[in-house]
Amino acid sequence: MTAPVSTEYVFGRHQPASHVLIHVSDPHFLAGGARLGGRYDVESNFARTLEAIRQVHPHPAAIVVTGDLTDLGEPDAYRRLRAALEPVAAELGTVVVWVAGNHDERPALREALLDLAPTEEPVTGVWDLDGLRLIALDTSVPGWHHGDLDDAQLAWLRDVLAEPAPHGTLLAMHHPPLPSHLPLFDILELRHQDELAEVIRGSDVRGILAGHLHYSAHGTFAGVPVSVSSATCYTMNVSLPAAEVNGMDAAQAFQLVHVHPDTITHTVVPVTEAPTGEFFSEAWLERMAALTPEQRLEAFSRKPAR
Ligand SMILES: [Fe+2]
Ligand SMILES: [Fe+2]
Repeated sequence: MTAPVSTEYVFGRHQPASHVLIHVSDPHFLAGGARLGGRYDVESNFARTLEAIRQVHPHPAAIVVTGDLTDLGEPDAYRRLRAALEPVAAELGTVVVWVAGNHDERPALREALLDLAPTEEPVTGVWDLDGLRLIALDTSVPGWHHGDLDDAQLAWLRDVLAEPAPHGTLLAMHHPPLPSHLPLFDILELRHQDELAEVIRGSDVRGILAGHLHYSAHGTFAGVPVSVSSATCYTMNVSLPAAEVNGMDAAQAFQLVHVHPDTITHTVVPVTEAPTGEFFSEAWLERMAALTPEQRLEAFSRKPAR
């Protein structure tokens, strides 16, 4: 359980966020810290992501990692990932939500990350984040890369959702229930989406967090916003024509999720170093906070007379 985080300065019409979450995806760790495909230094790239997470918010309600935690499901890869992320989560006083992806192996994930028996049972869970419910689904299919949700998991989800939560529910799952403009991903899409939609409709689900695509994407499913976080390991170079899109060691990103009473925003955070201006600061915000709304408009909205 974590305390709700409110925005310190509220200058607009919306209520402050009740919860702030970090949404990370697809670290694809390998045993021994090996490079993915011999190219991508996934551990260094993840370390850069963690540095960004540490500075972006002091106390998120959760860090959600939406699958493909490892590339080959090796126990050592899970141990290395856990050793990388858990100290940062402890420092920020937050919980980690591990979600299984198609590159994961349930038995190793359960044993090495969750200290559970190494079975093929789906890796699911429910978190009460001070009234915001987070449900992790397991869309992985042992032995395959496409996604699916079987009757048992859908029935379980229906049961959990039968009772609404005070701040509503977020679902976290690896395969997004969205189309991709890259045909390769449609081969690996989530099956039984109609059945999932039926469970979600009329429930208190306010958003779906997903991964798998290695690029940032947004859509709706059963009337619910879906946000796909890009990968921390490598990303798909979607600036190319769809048939020519391949991986690149650039544009890694995660998302900052602000849960407001009336809406949820997903901010894509690029993991990058770049010369950055110094105009805005805590002192600037304090000067704005000392003004009335009308004075703030005068100070920051009015254009100089021409
Ligand atoms: Fe992935
Ligand atoms: Fe995946």
